[in-house]
Amino acid sequence: MRIMIVGSGAREHAIARALARSKAQPMLFCFGNSQNPGIQALTLDYWIDNICALEKVGRKAREWHIDMAIIGPEAPLEQGLVDYLQQQGIPTIGPSKALAQLESSKIFTRKLLERYHIPGSPAFRCFTDLTGVADYLQVLGEGQYVIKADGLMGGKGVKVAGDHLQSIQEAIQFCEDLINKGHSFIIEEKLIGQEFSMLSFCDGEHLVPMPLVQDHKRAFVDDKGPNTGGMGSYSDANHSLPFLTPEEVIAAQQINEAVLKALTQTCQARYQGILYGSFIATKSGVKLIEYNARFGDPEALNVLAILESDFIAICQAMISGDLCASMVRFKPMATVCKYAVPLGYPDCPQVKKPIDISTIKNPEQLYFANVNVDTHHILTSTSRALAVVGIAPTISEAELIAEQEINRIQGALFHREDIGQARLINQRIQMMQGLRETVSA
Ligand code: AMP
Ligand code: GLY
Repeated sequence: MRIMIVGSGAREHAIARALARSKAQPMLFCFGNSQNPGIQALTLDYWIDNICALEKVGRKAREWHIDMAIIGPEAPLEQGLVDYLQQQGIPTIGPSKALAQLESSKIFTRKLLERYHIPGSPAFRCFTDLTGVADYLQVLGEGQYVIKADGLMGGKGVKVAGDHLQSIQEAIQFCEDLINKGHSFIIEEKLIGQEFSMLSFCDGEHLVPMPLVQDHKRAFVDDKGPNTGGMGSYSDANHSLPFLTPEEVIAAQQINEAVLKALTQTCQARYQGILYGSFIATKSGVKLIEYNARFGDPEALNVLAILESDFIAICQAMISGDLCASMVRFKPMATVCKYAVPLGYPDCPQVKKPIDISTIKNPEQLYFANVNVDTHHILTSTSRALAVVGIAPTISEAELIAEQEINRIQGALFHREDIGQARLINQRIQMMQGLRETVSA
């Protein structure tokens, strides 16, 4: 079997590893934006070009005689790469352009939930100009709103009151900037609670959830500093998270089920790929932050590292529509993923600094993300460089493994020591207990 992976980050490295473990012994090919030595070592051929250039990707797929493609990042989904490859007869993991609106348009998704009376949305309103903006900000209240640009913004389209926006004037200025750049936007109620990622395999009809993961977007210890692509993440051996109740997990699953039905009906098409719901547990129940139409990064590293079942069999079932829970097994293990990023990341990363990974103990759980490679060296680039994953019976043990391993990577890098540590996790458990108590009081 000849499989093409589109994308070249750590997520796609994790995908390549999971595919390579299959008993189908596939021949792997990668069409990526940049060089990734980890993926390169697992593939027969590797091509670097614009992954959103549909004809170029299609041409390579034909040249490589690809039997199945799997799309990592969101941008090619939004551009319709899945539609393009499927028209060429290549079964592809990832939703069509229309279905991928679930991620590419936050307005589409909020309105979908509204139209189908699906619970889980905060109060919101959509805007295309400034009419009514000031009034709605007043309705939600000082410090109680979030402003979100419509469209893929690479993590830069969301500003949260009290966090990124300190006054109504700043909020209106942000809205004006969005309008000037041609964006519609949503203003919604700010939610307080703990965020979690629920990724599911989907064959258009059946959803099979993966272990829940919590990502850490802020650059520095204790969730301080600017937002990043994600500094690391953890999952628990029971595949839930320590701060969630079973009812909250079920509530998120029910939102996913209802959204899949609504989406299928609206688009008259089958969603074949990964449905990634980003949720927040609040005092008034589980709410939806957003959907993504692909594996999360870093979440993919946590879940694929403990996927016991054959990933290619799961992909084939997503394509044929025969997916069922019994074909998806994960090890009952906790995982902690930590990213090593260049000093100065994300605002002014130190680029082209050498990285030494020669003393790494477990190269099987080292993932390459964004690095430059010359003949002898791995060098930092502008984004997250490498990730490690610790796997163990408890989160604390997995954290220790990840922490020790990441400290073996030498270079002008930093990481978040606190991800997966008991202190941080206990804070989160206590926060949720506090929120639940305010309701029952
Ligand atoms: P998104 O791009 O929608 O995932 O938003 C990025 C981040 O902004 C999320 O991970 C949250 O931390 C935050 N955020 C988004 N929507 C809300 C909301 N309604 N209330 C509080 N925080 C939010
Ligand atoms: N974990 C955040 C993302 O993949 O978008």
